[in-house]
Amino acid sequence: MGINILGTGCYLPEQKLTNDDFTRFVDTSDEWIRTRTGIKERRMAGWEPVWYMGSEAAKRAISKAGIAPEDIGLIIVASATGDFHTPSMSCVVQNETGAVNAAAFDMNAACSGFVYMLDTARRFLETDNSLRYVLVVAAEALSRFVDFSDRSSCILFGDGAAAVVIERSDKLYTSALGADGSGARLLYARSVNIAEEVKVEHEFDDGFPEKRLHKLYQDGREVYKFATKALPKAFHLAADKAGITPEDIDWFVPHQANVRIIETAAKNLGAPMDKFIVTLDHYGNTSSVSIPLALHESIEKGVIKRGQKLALIGFGAGLTYAGAIFEY
Ligand code: UT7
Repeated sequence: MGINILGTGCYLPEQKLTNDDFTRFVDTSDEWIRTRTGIKERRMAGWEPVWYMGSEAAKRAISKAGIAPEDIGLIIVASATGDFHTPSMSCVVQNETGAVNAAAFDMNAACSGFVYMLDTARRFLETDNSLRYVLVVAAEALSRFVDFSDRSSCILFGDGAAAVVIERSDKLYTSALGADGSGARLLYARSVNIAEEVKVEHEFDDGFPEKRLHKLYQDGREVYKFATKALPKAFHLAADKAGITPEDIDWFVPHQANVRIIETAAKNLGAPMDKFIVTLDHYGNTSSVSIPLALHESIEKGVIKRGQKLALIGFGAGLTYAGAIFEY
């Protein structure tokens, strides 16, 4: 059983941060950022809570799908930078969208979150015949977590939200989800200061090097190495289940972290770069939002067309990786 994407939507904060803007507070340059990452600018949330961005993207996806919100049976939201520990953002999105009959829960698989959600949604559709539509939302405000004194990470990230509405279909679908928790300390942001409290009383060090709260820590080089292997792996794990090769794919929609990671993945997959959707130049790395945002933009522009085969491939903190291959 496959999925059918009925509608997509996005929300982008108006405020833009260019590479030159960063030269005001860290030792960097537009040239370094462009050549090492491919990023030129990114959006930055201002007054918007993350739930607001997610809800707006969701409303636009529902409107595009042309369905009544009451007919949505499930909402899943992914975010690594949500406004609340509780309630789940999905409950707030339910209230904002009027999807009163939907069950609602959140997922966190960092930048792999969208593919994890899509795959989970498909499984719900397969096992519950009473479920008609699922709303899948990704929303992030990385700018509230990045350490703006760390030039190697602050230049990478951007904010925004994207959403899709799906239903079941008979079209091709295959997927693979994976994780390697041994890399948990390579990319993280603390949510509570228990580590510090425990350390004082019990001399316990949890081994996560950044001790400050809510500050994104990243070992860029190690994550880079993981990423270049994780993207081809996510593809092959999913593709091999259905006898699919890179030649069968019309569009690869990879996680938008660094264009050099995408270029290396393309080379390792033996697929030409012009089959890879790249939007990171204008949005930076928006974590779980990057894949659905790239998907939405490419559909809106008419680049991705009905009947084409897509390979969504992601990686992220955790470390996690995920691939979903399906017909649009
Ligand atoms: O979804 C989350 C996943 N995260 C990622 O995918 C990030 C993966 N990693 C990367 O994309 C890259 O490792 C970075 C973009 C973070 C760094 O690029 P790099 O080519 O691996 O640079 P590097 O860490 O090897 O650093 C090279 C040099 C260093 O200077 P020295 O030690 O050679 O003097 C850095 O201090 O570049 C320096 N550098 C900078 N220079 C100017 C690091 N950041 C900057 C900067 N501007 N913004």
